[in-house]
Amino acid sequence: MVAKTPTRTQVGIIGAGPAGLVLGELLADAGIDNVILESRDRQYVESRVRAGVLEQATVELLDKHGLSANVHAHGLVHDGVYLQFHGERHHIDMRRLTGGRTITVYGQQELVRDLIAHRLQTGKELLFEAEAVSLSGMQWGGDPVIKFRHGGVERRLACRVIAGCDGFHGVSRRSIPAQDITTFSREFPYAWLGILAEVAPSSNELVYSFHESGFALLSMRSPSVSRLYLQVPPGEEIADWPDERIWSELEVRLATPGWNLERGPVIEKSITPMRSFVAEPLRHGSLFLAGDSGHIVPPTGAKGLNLAIADVKVLAEALAAWFSSGDESGLDAYSPTCLKRIWNAQNFSTTMTSLMHLDPAADPFSLRIQRALQRFTVENLNAMSALADNYVGPPFDSPLQEGGKR
Ligand code: APR
Ligand code: PHB
Repeated sequence: MVAKTPTRTQVGIIGAGPAGLVLGELLADAGIDNVILESRDRQYVESRVRAGVLEQATVELLDKHGLSANVHAHGLVHDGVYLQFHGERHHIDMRRLTGGRTITVYGQQELVRDLIAHRLQTGKELLFEAEAVSLSGMQWGGDPVIKFRHGGVERRLACRVIAGCDGFHGVSRRSIPAQDITTFSREFPYAWLGILAEVAPSSNELVYSFHESGFALLSMRSPSVSRLYLQVPPGEEIADWPDERIWSELEVRLATPGWNLERGPVIEKSITPMRSFVAEPLRHGSLFLAGDSGHIVPPTGAKGLNLAIADVKVLAEALAAWFSSGDESGLDAYSPTCLKRIWNAQNFSTTMTSLMHLDPAADPFSLRIQRALQRFTVENLNAMSALADNYVGPPFDSPLQEGGKR
């Protein structure tokens, strides 16, 4: 039997990335009916390689909703990270500095795979190759409708609320009239070349390294798969980076006395530009932006996925209150609550980025200042504690949120 395409739901969710998929689960657990529309096919969404660091609060939220079995089975719990400057490697013991908090290294791609499997197993609506093309009726109290294309046919999904979880290039943010939204952005004068390699990680924890030739990062996906990155000029072509060139550059930038970088077959490689972006507000009537559709951080510190999940937790709680009792206060607070966390993460990600990267336009004076800041970061206990706190991330119900409400 061919399932009927849904025409009506309480929350229409555009996008099956981490934001849309987690929101769908949180709403379903609160008894709120929702439909997820995803423009790409399942295979494409499941094989998109992205970052892989889960904050403790992200793991706790997944635990609470029964979504973390594989995270615990296959994720790697890390107590700290290494920061390396000019060949000297320093350990930041996050567990000790934060009173016991840790991060879990688990690929976003694996998490997306888990969430899709869970959604389909539990029989909830998730339509692949269903591209939202326009949104209407978004004034509060209006009749929001998502027009989408599915199987070559134009369809309509009537909703009470629309969640725009469709990433940076999606249709949701673009549907808000220009006079009702302000955007803030910054481009960085470098990009990241990332590889996945079939080789055991050469370090037990992540290594962020500043070198006079540029930044490098050693990360991992499992005990047998490494994830590595190199700072490259923006606009660089991947064809100019044969595997041999990548490995020798990684060796130079990650080198520290008495340590070796193990090489292995490269199974994926790509170049990603780096940008910061924030849209304000994150709400337009009955449209709520969550995740990359509303904000992008540079990847240094791996906050993107965690911010997306923090957004949808706030949104799901606000929607649950509104659907159950008509209380709109949570919906009114959605944008300011999320923006506070988002700007804190922008601050951290930008600070980490400028601490660790070589700015091609930096004059000798700026390079000396950067060097001083690098030393301060690993020699001063307060600086190390601040870095560790930001890296593991604040709890989701922290007083850092708007109004100090717990
Ligand atoms: N209709 C339906 N789906 C769409 C449309 C559309 N018009 N436009 C985009 N999409 C889908 C994309 O194909 C993608 O699967 O929306 C999804 C958005 O997912 P992500 O880009 O993963 O964004 P998000 O869920 O906010 O996750 C944020 O992803 O980009 C990383 O660093 C970022 O880790 C962060 C996380
Ligand atoms: C990753 O493993 O892909 C990763 C880790 C840390 C970062 C960014 C990416 O800061």
